Amino acid sequence: MRLIFLGAPGAGKGTIASAIGKELGLPQVSTGDLFREAVKNGTELGLRVKSIMEKGELVSDELTVALARERLGRPDTAKGYILDGFPRTIPQAEALASFQRIDGAVNFLCSDEVVVRRLSGRRICRSCGAIYHVENMPPRREGVCDRCGGELYVRDDDRIDSIRNRLRVYREQTEPLIGYYRGRGLLHDIDSGQTVEKSLGELRKLLKKLRKAG
Ligand code: AP5
Ligand code: MG
Ligand code: ZN
Repeated sequence: MRLIFLGAPGAGKGTIASAIGKELGLPQVSTGDLFREAVKNGTELGLRVKSIMEKGELVSDELTVALARERLGRPDTAKGYILDGFPRTIPQAEALASFQRIDGAVNFLCSDEVVVRRLSGRRICRSCGAIYHVENMPPRREGVCDRCGGELYVRDDDRIDSIRNRLRVYREQTEPLIGYYRGRGLLHDIDSGQTVEKSLGELRKLLKKLRKAG
């Protein structure tokens, strides 16, 4: 199964990708996570993308496609993967299509209001990347990861001005992908404004249908 998760920032792509990836034994490939890793390690790529990410702008298609291509060439993706946050522009989608055949694009539908609330309360584990929310999904101990005991932090782009900019960038540059994949018969909507369990249930049904059809 080669899947793309599309949707606004904060729609819950990462949360659901992590859960369903574990269930199905598929790697979650998040370009956002890969860029954050590069920033954390202070690599040349990290230095180039740090301020772009903080402002909530998109990294260039050239850098992003090169990163995704390299990641999708690794052996753990041979049986499939979940692309979380890539592609995000039409040129990225076209580049992907030139070297991979995908089975479906799942569109996470969620209102801006819900997105802003989710992003303003998000916390991430510095060590393992687990995602929490101060109200919706609090850790057992404040500021500490349940999974690994790591420290929880607020992402640099989860501040209100950056959140607003990410939503604008999403509308302008990423939303056109909905039409792109719909036109190719690959788009499937799910309601991600509900609880994680409900969204996961909807997604499991959809994947069953896709497996039967494929
Ligand atoms: P990226 O890391 O991909 O960020 P994003 O797309 O803005 O999406 P988020 O990770 O913010 O949201 P999500 O949908 O994963 O939500 P989550 O599950 O965490 O990209 C970051 C940056 O990297 C970009 O701005 C850009 O600069 C660069 N970049 C990355 N990819 C790129 C590309 N392809 N091209 C160019 N540049 C690129 O959930 C959010 C919160 O809500 C959490 O707190 C969670 O606990 C909570 N939550 C989730 N689901 C629920 C639920 N059902 N109910 C209640 N709370 C929930
Ligand atoms: Mg994410
Ligand atoms: Zn952790």
